[in-house]
Amino acid sequence: MSIRTVLLIGGSGFVGTAIAARLAAAGKTLLVPTRRRERARHLLPLPTVELVEADVTDPASLAVLMTGVDAVVNLVGVLHSRSGSPYGPDFARAHVALPEHIVTAAREARVQRIVHISALGAAADGPSGYLRSKAAGEAAIRAAAPEVGWTILRPSVIFGPGDRFLNLFAGLLKRFPVLPLGGAKARFQPVYVGDVAAVVAEALERPDAVGQTFDMAGPWQYSLKALVEYVGTLTGHPRPVIPLPEGLALLQAALLECLPGPLMSRDNVRSMRVPNVVNGPAQPWGRRPTALETIAPCYLGSINKRGRYDAFQLHRP
Ligand SMILES: NC(=O)c1ccc[n+]([C@@H]2O[C@H](COP(=O)([O-])OP(=O)(O)OC[C@H]3O[C@@H](n4cnc5c(N)ncnc54)[C@H](OP(=O)(O)O)[C@@H]3O)[C@@H](O)[C@H]2O)c1
Repeated sequence: MSIRTVLLIGGSGFVGTAIAARLAAAGKTLLVPTRRRERARHLLPLPTVELVEADVTDPASLAVLMTGVDAVVNLVGVLHSRSGSPYGPDFARAHVALPEHIVTAAREARVQRIVHISALGAAADGPSGYLRSKAAGEAAIRAAAPEVGWTILRPSVIFGPGDRFLNLFAGLLKRFPVLPLGGAKARFQPVYVGDVAAVVAEALERPDAVGQTFDMAGPWQYSLKALVEYVGTLTGHPRPVIPLPEGLALLQAALLECLPGPLMSRDNVRSMRVPNVVNGPAQPWGRRPTALETIAPCYLGSINKRGRYDAFQLHRP
């Protein structure tokens, strides 16, 4: 049976917005729950989107939202949590309990498909609460079989207009003359948000996506330092980047945790202990990933000739 109506949980965010645009263009009817309607207003121009204010962590609300939908895409994720073992309570709520509730509600509502966005490097023995809780969330989603066909995507860090990653560094480089950087040597293989949206749309339609877990990354690997320096070049704010040893990075993060909506936490620093890169194919079904260098200059501002040159050099070993 084809997928016509999709419940997009966490659909108001960065990745959800790209997926909503993609699915709406394909003629799907979308239901997007949000905690604050105001936050999701930018989706209203999409003709087939219905926004609804709801608490998706409440099983009764989820049961109502699932009624009559063919598929669910889960995009809820948080970067920070109070501490705890093996992961803190905020990670537990958003990354583990919510997928469990989604599976229960999807079974009861006879939903056909779930596409769940996890994270590259998620592992029960991972170095951070974020990665451990993402692994527990994946296990919860896999338990949906055989009643509900599941697909899990595990992206590396995601870039595109409105991203939090490159734009965060663009903001910091604009404000500060020097950037002391934790995890400077950490490896990333950034993936384009449009590629993630395309794979979600395809996964909903393909029978062979059921029961599959796909890593998702871009074509090239970079150190965090190289990425930050590239952002500096693109934005016209090249600054010295000073790599911090992990002890100092943890101290810096501990101080940042005292601020509201922290830029960085100690858990984030620990996540960077494992390279955020793929070992196998970067994307499923032989898809060719989009290069960072073809997209980032379009939204990170004033690229100059030198920036274009550096863009070509960036991924060279
Ligand atoms: N962005 C990346 O680089 C990246 C990389 C790897 C994996 N991922 C994963 O991809 C998914 C989407 O990421 P994103 O960057 O689009 O995140 P995002 O912009 O923060 O959006 C997440 C959405 O989830 C909802 N949400 C957040 N916390 C919630 C909570 N405690 N309870 C209920 N709803 C909550 C929010 O919706 P409302 O505020 O409207 O309720 C928000 O719009 C996440 O699972 C993330 O872990 C992202």
